Amino acid sequence: MNTDHVQNDITEVLVTEAQIKQRVAEMAHILDEKYQDEVPLLVGVLKGAVMFMADIARAMTVPINMDWMALSSYGSGTVSSGVIRILKDLDADVHGRHVVIIEDIIDSGLTLSWLAANLEARGAASVEVVALLRKPAAMKVEVDVAQVGFDIPNEFVVGYGLDFNERYRNLTSIAVLDPKVYR
Ligand code: IMP
Ligand code: MG
Repeated sequence: MNTDHVQNDITEVLVTEAQIKQRVAEMAHILDEKYQDEVPLLVGVLKGAVMFMADIARAMTVPINMDWMALSSYGSGTVSSGVIRILKDLDADVHGRHVVIIEDIIDSGLTLSWLAANLEARGAASVEVVALLRKPAAMKVEVDVAQVGFDIPNEFVVGYGLDFNERYRNLTSIAVLDPKVYR
């Protein structure tokens, strides 16, 4: 069965489904408090942030707008190239909007620092970053992150939206991919 194959590709579950659920609720609550007076535009970064966006948006109770961008930084490898391209731009005009970037994981931080600057340059009233996961390398770069769900070790993880070669996004937990899969 396919599910057996997925389990064989995983060395360790880092964050369980229950832990994600609890943390996402806490993070949504902080956003609720912050956006009492204006409708924030949540910008999800495709495709990795789909599950996180869906869950944090539903855990929030204030009115929100949702939009999506697709960026490329990784291709099919596991190391950031540093080259960011917009594959799909926002539908919304961010001018004067309070933008909350919803990101799956910050590794080098290159993607996010580029995106935050890009949205600021379009005239957003404010831009904040909410990321589910953060790796140690992210500490070295200048990215102002409002909220991080979990700091994780420097390993390649999959699940809850995160992929390797477009696989494993539908795992309900966040797990370490066995290096044998990409070596
Ligand atoms: P950064 O620009 O190096 O911060 O890379 C961020 C992007 O790389 C994320 O949005 C993910 O799509 C991808 N990425 C980084 N680390 C991982 C990982 O461990 N698993 C899956 N995707 C990752
Ligand atoms: Mg990816």
